[in-house]
Amino acid sequence: MTLRFDSPRVILTGGGCRNQTAEILSSLRARRTLVVTDPFFVSSRYLTEILSAMTEAGIAHELFRDFQPDPEDCNVVAGVEKFHAFGGDSILAFGGGSAIDVAKVIGASSANPGPLAAFQGYHRIVNAGPPLVVLPTTAGTGSKATKVAVITDTARNVKMMILDSKLMPMAAIVDYELTLSMPKPLTAHVGVDTLTHGIEAYVSRRANALTDPIAVSCIAKTQAYLRKAWAHPEDREAREAMSFAALQGGLAFTNSSVCLVHGMSRPLGVAFHIPHGLSNATLLPAVTRFSWRGAVSRYADVARAMSLVDEKRSNEFACESLVDCLDELNHELEVPRLRDCCGTTIDAFRAVVPKMAVDALDSGSPQNNPIVPAAEQIMELFDKAW
Ligand SMILES: [Fe+2]
Repeated sequence: MTLRFDSPRVILTGGGCRNQTAEILSSLRARRTLVVTDPFFVSSRYLTEILSAMTEAGIAHELFRDFQPDPEDCNVVAGVEKFHAFGGDSILAFGGGSAIDVAKVIGASSANPGPLAAFQGYHRIVNAGPPLVVLPTTAGTGSKATKVAVITDTARNVKMMILDSKLMPMAAIVDYELTLSMPKPLTAHVGVDTLTHGIEAYVSRRANALTDPIAVSCIAKTQAYLRKAWAHPEDREAREAMSFAALQGGLAFTNSSVCLVHGMSRPLGVAFHIPHGLSNATLLPAVTRFSWRGAVSRYADVARAMSLVDEKRSNEFACESLVDCLDELNHELEVPRLRDCCGTTIDAFRAVVPKMAVDALDSGSPQNNPIVPAAEQIMELFDKAW
């Protein structure tokens, strides 16, 4: 059996590794770099220092910050225009998953004329874009180590999943010190997203011997450190462990797959503008309760990696314990219920559930789930998560 594992060519981890950004860019022959950054970080000390080092290394730069959480096609178009107008030869993303995703697709789009919708799906990008270096400022999406980007097609009101190895960043610089200022709700939401990546990568029908150990380590680290990182934001050991777990989650799921949680999460984000991590967190317990009977020993491994049960307990007991733990985790981290995130009534929610179920299935992710659901079952799961 042939296995394939994609990853960034270079991965740096550890406190202070951001100081090597200019050196990494220089090694990629970058001379003119478009810096895609969250507006929040534009005047931050961290970014200012990195830009100064780039200037000293002879790398000209131009900032691009015209995008919002859950980026849209129009953000990418504006970024490509800026990249060409600047005469860019490289891209640096500094921010959360949205900044990284929009940077990936700006790069791909700059090298491939045509509508963005043509990229939707698997392996539709013909020409590789310019070198991309990413510095994540959250510990969650794993986007720094994935060949996936999600961009909303505003004409069709659909979150397009674009999967292509040409989206993989050339270098990922994972410096946990950039995550120290994450507020508690964001820490919780992207942290549960990291756990979701580990679990979905491990139970996926496409899990394999290369991804399994990384997924298990991601799960164990998240269980050991997420609560600490949330309760004590200044805890450096916990922040470093969560940054590492998020990197592992990205590496695992991009070489295995995400499953039903992510499939259902994307249409929720489009319909109700719920951020990615939060929508996944609200769905994880209900989807796990639905799915575990399709891969009992795998979910039991997850429970044991989280030290929820010992080897003497049955696999079924372990799976039930896992579902209970996921419910408790959301409660402990003050993750709201779906009904508290949507800003609408149950009737208005149910009116869009059929379309969300179809969009979830169309994304392809639910087909990797241990139990592949019918549209009606997805509708029931949305109701249960409400
Ligand atoms: Fe995710």
